[in-house]
Amino acid sequence: MTPESAEHRLRELERRNNEAFQGGGVDRVEKQKAGGRLTARERLDVLLDPGSFVEVDRFVTHRSKNFGLGEKVVPGDGVVTGYGRINGKLVYVYSQDFTVFGGSMSRTQANKICKIMDLAVKNGAPIIGLNDSGGARIQEGVESLGGYADIFLRNVTTSGVVPQISAIMGPCAGGAVYSPSLTDFTFMVKNTSYMFVTGPDVIKTVTHEDVTKEDLGGALTHNTKSGVAHFATDDDRHCLLMIRELLNFLPGNNLDDPPILPTRDKPDRIEESLNSFIPDNPKKPYDMLELINKIVDEGYFLEVQKHYAKNIVVGFARFNGRPVGIVANQPAVLAGCLNISASIKAARFIRFCDAFNIPLVTLEDVPGFLPGTDQEWNGIITHGAKLLYAYAEATVPKITIVTRKAYGGAYCVMSSKHIRGDVNLAYPSAEIAVMGAEGAVNIIFRNEIKNSRTPEAERQRLIKEYEAQFNNPYVASEIGYIDEVIEPAFTRKRIIEALEMLKNKRDVNPPKKHGNIPL
Ligand code: HXC
Repeated sequence: MTPESAEHRLRELERRNNEAFQGGGVDRVEKQKAGGRLTARERLDVLLDPGSFVEVDRFVTHRSKNFGLGEKVVPGDGVVTGYGRINGKLVYVYSQDFTVFGGSMSRTQANKICKIMDLAVKNGAPIIGLNDSGGARIQEGVESLGGYADIFLRNVTTSGVVPQISAIMGPCAGGAVYSPSLTDFTFMVKNTSYMFVTGPDVIKTVTHEDVTKEDLGGALTHNTKSGVAHFATDDDRHCLLMIRELLNFLPGNNLDDPPILPTRDKPDRIEESLNSFIPDNPKKPYDMLELINKIVDEGYFLEVQKHYAKNIVVGFARFNGRPVGIVANQPAVLAGCLNISASIKAARFIRFCDAFNIPLVTLEDVPGFLPGTDQEWNGIITHGAKLLYAYAEATVPKITIVTRKAYGGAYCVMSSKHIRGDVNLAYPSAEIAVMGAEGAVNIIFRNEIKNSRTPEAERQRLIKEYEAQFNNPYVASEIGYIDEVIEPAFTRKRIIEALEMLKNKRDVNPPKKHGNIPL
């Protein structure tokens, strides 16, 4: 076999491929697995349809000579990049390899990721980043920082063009956290992933707080406390399968429609139990998730940020195969009041749906914005306005059903007719008014109550009168703010009819560079 022979050339290719497949070597791979994590390539095997992965830049290496790096060169340089399919649909992927330089971000690694991102935008397909990295490659200094910034720029220009999804499957610290945060959805793996801008040691020095990595920035912290993450998953495999689930609801890009899937659930299914589902006592809570499960295709609802701001529920479901984004007040938590975290959570979700042509179905039971100094001093005015802004600017089909309370500013905000709700329906149990009867009577009849010889009896009489006049859907339906008062059993049928009617909806906002959402 001479060096010029075809066989020798093939052997050389095989040798180089094998070298790349070994990543950081047997010991480091074993260490990775001992910690419960899959390798970068194993993750892609779970994420993508079998045999669909095509690697790009397998042999690319760094060019740094700093601090002895010239002696340490591993093909691929700590990230596996390429494209493949999820349920037959094209996606672009990068998967950081912690076994190679701790998956750290080099100039070369950034170039590989940027190349994939550029391809994703040009070809209109989602980009999925699997993050597992010690951050900036320390030996490369500012070149590494430049690499990060190049990715951040692409995250921003790509936002709203193709869906961007991040999974945190190991460390993600320092400025590295900003790429996932700029993407649309962040998945985290429980116990093995963490995200923070400054770690426990720095915090100890600066604020004298003692905190573990898990408490500071683990999956549960970011899913329950900060709202930084959208999904908390049990392990690597679960995380990757959940990403596949999510992708099923999304179009490839902002010019595509989301994928319609066949369903065995009948479009005209009547759900009799809904006629007695809303409690007669308006102060009694019920679980909005149960209502959602009763109306969507096959009871399947993919809840987003389910551990955060539970007073509002957001997520994806299908009606007669057609994907929708559901936004629903949750009367079982804080009586379904809107507060700062709920407003931000729902606003971001609505903007995602609007960017990617996913119709919005709003289920409304909201007594108003949460009162209190905590909310006021922390800016509920600005944050509540985010939700209003998001609903008002959205041009996708918008269907709203008032199941019970729609009071005050919250009535206006929750996809009302006035901010371009397309189909606005109400249950007979709906109460649409400026405020609850007690509060209203105490204000508008203050003098009558004070001057009455039996003030409490007079107050109760006036409350009854107010309730009779306003605590119903008919005032709003008489002036066309509600299109129809429906029998709850027909909710699913009505939503499907509305989606069908609105499927070719075209609506645009005036041309502008961009709006100025109250941040
Ligand atoms: C170069 C790195 C590295 C890095 C890890 N390694 N992080 N190499 N640059 N940032 C290398 C290690 O030298 C080691 O190499 C291998 O990766 C595995 O690391 P270990 O420390 O053995 O792993 P582990 O014990 O699991 O600890 C993981 C870790 C720790 C907690 C992430 O490695 C660590 O603290 N790394 C530094 C984190 C950091 O400060 N990064 C910079 C943040 S600032 P060998 O050859 O021994 O296997 C930043 C700014 C970004 O990122 C700004 C963007 C705007």
